[in-house]
Parts: sequence; C-alpha cells; structure tokens
Amino acid sequence: MLLSDEQKAMLDGAYGETVRRLMRLLARLGEIYGAERMLKVESAQISGVSYKSLGEPGLDFLRDVAACGARVKAITSMNPAGMDLEDWRSHGIPEDFANKQQQVIEALCRLGVAPSATCTPYFTGNLPRYSQHLAWAESSAVAFANSVIGARTNREGGPSALAAALCGCTPGYGLHLEENRRPTMAVDVLTELRSSADFSALGYYVGERVKAGIPYFRGVKSARIDELKALGAAMAASGSVALYHIHEITPEARLLATARLDSIAVGRREIDEVYSRLNTAERPDLVVIGCPHASLREIVAVARKLQNKRVKKPLWVCTSRSLKQSANAMGLTRIIEQAGGQLVADTCMVVSPIEEMGFQATGVNSAKAAHYLPSFCRQKVMFRETDELIKGVIE
Ligand code: F3S
Repeated sequence: MLLSDEQKAMLDGAYGETVRRLMRLLARLGEIYGAERMLKVESAQISGVSYKSLGEPGLDFLRDVAACGARVKAITSMNPAGMDLEDWRSHGIPEDFANKQQQVIEALCRLGVAPSATCTPYFTGNLPRYSQHLAWAESSAVAFANSVIGARTNREGGPSALAAALCGCTPGYGLHLEENRRPTMAVDVLTELRSSADFSALGYYVGERVKAGIPYFRGVKSARIDELKALGAAMAASGSVALYHIHEITPEARLLATARLDSIAVGRREIDEVYSRLNTAERPDLVVIGCPHASLREIVAVARKLQNKRVKKPLWVCTSRSLKQSANAMGLTRIIEQAGGQLVADTCMVVSPIEEMGFQATGVNSAKAAHYLPSFCRQKVMFRETDELIKGVIE
C-alpha cells in the first residue's frame, strides 16, 4: 500500500509506540481489504464510549492510548456515554459507574476528542461535506453521513476510528471508492410514510433483506432530516447497511441507474408486520424519544405536546448536551420538566444501565432501540409513533 513519508514514520515508531500500533492497525486493515493508499480523514466519530459496553478492559485501553500524549488530527466527536454527565445523580446512576464513566470521557478528552457524547454529531459541530473522507464508527451516523450528506466512510469499529483520528488517515477501500457506492437492490415503497416511526419500521424491514448491501428507494415522496436519520439507524441495526439512496432526495441518487437491479416492494402490510414483531409490551414503565438523539425540531415537537400537561410515567427525551443547552435557552426544557418529563443529555436508553434503575418495559419510536433494548437492557418494548407514545403517558 502506498504510504506518505509521515505515515511511514508513524509505522516505524517515530511518533511513539502507541501511534505505531494504531498505524499498524490501519495498515493491516488496508492490506486485508486491498486498499491502494491511505486517505486523509476530515472527521472521526468514536463509538464504544459507554462504560457499560467498554468495561474495565476498554477503559484500560483508553488510558494507555491517552498516556501517549498524541492528539487527534481531525475533528473527532464521541458517541453517547452511559449516563447524563451532569445530572447522573438524579437519574440514580451508581457512584462507581459514574466514576468509571468520567474516566472514559477524561481519557478521550486528553486525546483531543470533543466531549459531544452524541450519536448525531452532524447536529453538533461535526458536520462533514459531500465527498469528504471520514472514519465514523456509530452505525446510524455512518448511514447518515454516507447517504444524506454524501460524505464517505466505512462502518468503522471504535479502535479503528480512534486510530484514524490519531493518525489522520484511513485506508481507502469500501465506501471510500466511487465504484462501491452503487445500489445493490431497489426498494419500491408502495405506502405513505406517516411518521419517523414508519421510516424506522421501513428501514428495519429493508435492512433485514439487504443486509450489508446498498438499497435504492423509489416511491418516497418526501422525507425530513429526522426521518432520514431514523431510516438509516434502523437499517444499520437490522442489517449492516452503511449507505442508502432515495430517488430525488439523497445527493448521489441522481448519478445512479437502477433499471437492472433486483427489487423488493414494501407496503403497509410489511411495515405493520415490523411494528407487531418488535412489540412485546403494552404498558411501558418508561417512554423514551430520541434514538438517534433528538434534533431540535423533535424536542420542539415534544415540548408542544407537553405544554400544560402532566405525564404519569417517566418520559425521557434523549439528545446531545449542546442541543439541550439550546433547549434550555428556548424554554423547552422547562416545559418538558414542568410536565414531569426529562430532557436527558449525553446518553440514551440503550447505553445507560436502565435495567438497574428498575425499568422493565420501554416505549420507543425507534426500531433500532426496539431491536437492542431486549438484549442490551433486558427490556420488553412498545414500538409506536411519537404521538401515540406521548398520548399514552399524559394524565
Ligand atoms: Fe443513539 Fe443510543 Fe440510538 S447511541 S442511535 S440513541 S441506541
């Protein structure tokens, strides 16, 4: 593989043992996947930030890397942590867990990673542009960056994204190359999509069929940004879709021909089948909106529904710290809290230890959350659209 002088020096240990090991990891990945050269990365997104998923070995690894004194070479954000980093006490997070989680964040910050703690970095300052090369590890954000923005990233793991951030490069294979971004299957959508949850259910159905392929949707009349983030997140959860195209909506779709592709059709019956399959609870004891993390528009919509109302069960809206600060200034947090809900920053229901907080059944509007909650958090799940969930918790 072609390496620059600086990349060779990293590989030879001129920047220390840790950088040598990380560069070696990238070079090895490049060899395995047949990359011809390294590409400069403009942005990275680190996954595996929750202490719940990292555990002690992961924290040890990050402490070792942080001790090397290197700094990231591209703007780098981090995935949600296992708790709200400021309000963890009021959420009942155990002291020991909180202490370990803070150490994870400190180690990443020492490397120059922004303490963004969100799976929607594109809403909070890590917004790449069309055709830039990235190393992102959060699967929903990977789908968004590739599909909605037209940037280029493979679906990295936490270590390879961190290596790319610190070495400033990533091997040029897979979705970094134009020829690998063509669709592999057409999807004819035969029904109206009425909500983000419908987009999410559609994505879940298609991800199971397309697996690691690239779907090209036809028949979607319009889609908001929040609906596109829901669609990609679901496909990345039920399959491992990292890129999708939608006719006349996503930026690369107009460059592509679909006449010769195999196709599947998705109607209301298929979407309803996903709702009923993911539903295992009728009475949630917690309702969470914000998987992927809620946008400002979604926070506004929830606040409007809660104005002058009271909720009878815990209701969380999960988002990033920086959007929470905007919501504070706009008076949205106050409306949600006066109704008895919480605007939770830095974390989500899947990566925080909700099973240890006494919750057994969670209501969500996200097929991705519905997919992971049973195994990660021992939850039964109610999967519905936002309006229905909120109506169900209002007194
Ligand atoms: Fe984000 Fe948690 Fe969903 S990390 S995509 S809110 S499972």
